[in-house]
Amino acid sequence: MPHVIETKGLTKIYGSLYALKNLDLTLEEGNILGYLGPNGSGKTTTIKLLLGLIYPTSGTINIFGKESSKNFKEIHKDLAYVASEPAFWPNLTAKETLYFFSKFKDNYDLDYQSKLIKRFDLDINKKIRQYSRGNRQKIAIISALARRSKLIIMDEPSTGLDPIMEQVFKESIFEAKENGQTIFLSSHILEEVEAICDQIAILKNGKLIEFGSLENLKHLNQTKFEVYFNNQKPALSKNKNIINLKIEKEKMTFQVVGPTNEILAEVLKYKPNRIYSKPTSLEDLFLSVYKNTK
Ligand SMILES: Nc1ncnc2c1ncn2[C@@H]1O[C@H](COP(=O)(O)OP(=O)(O)O)[C@@H](O)[C@H]1O
Ligand SMILES: [Mg+2]
Repeated sequence: MPHVIETKGLTKIYGSLYALKNLDLTLEEGNILGYLGPNGSGKTTTIKLLLGLIYPTSGTINIFGKESSKNFKEIHKDLAYVASEPAFWPNLTAKETLYFFSKFKDNYDLDYQSKLIKRFDLDINKKIRQYSRGNRQKIAIISALARRSKLIIMDEPSTGLDPIMEQVFKESIFEAKENGQTIFLSSHILEEVEAICDQIAILKNGKLIEFGSLENLKHLNQTKFEVYFNNQKPALSKNKNIINLKIEKEKMTFQVVGPTNEILAEVLKYKPNRIYSKPTSLEDLFLSVYKNTK
């Protein structure tokens, strides 16, 4: 089975800036790839290259096993795309916009589209210019999913969605996966990617610094803690799974790499007043794990 996406040495230079440098990436059929990176790291550049909206300075792209520059027309028959800032015609309604997009695909699934419109709670009778960012995002997501394409490429699709809609979005992505579709999802939210993706790629300054299955990227599984004590505090500094430990008067802050049970048990022996915890964000990883990665 050929890879759905395979890039080799993919590079895009603007002037003297490497927007993307030597990207070797593969995405297998039926998988969801989380393409992570902070702003300006090269996510949109990669997606524009994959879509053929810009040309590479060097390197190759194969989609569905075909050299992309020679087979754009064929590839795009089975590819759906959600742009990072979807621009539609301001005077058309959402209904008219969705109708227009439905005409680009032979087997566009109108029943599924109706289901998605309900699920995303979208009023389709307003004009595009009246919609908020999040609602425009919903239109793009609905039309991409209703195409039922083999490959869906999404550029930070959940930007502007509220937490309930983010949940609806995740469910819809799982549904696409169950349906055998392959998804390339760019994001700057580690939590989102961890929740839905099979594989994770991380970009820094145009370079791929991490690529693998969630299973293989266990060191990314970190939890942040903030714990308050009245009296004595536990001596955690010796534990090798603890990083960024800071001790103040009543407070300890630290990150745990991997499972937290043993460390929590140790902390509880000292009867803390309060414990706050949250998963590590991509920003935290860039400050800790990737600080010195060039
Ligand atoms: N058309 C362009 N001309 C010059 N520089 C660009 C152009 N498009 C993107 N870049 C630069 O390439 C880098 C990567 O941008 P981009 O791919 O948009 O990042 P991301 O989507 O991860 O935020 C940035 O430094 C950006 O300023
Ligand atoms: Mg971008």
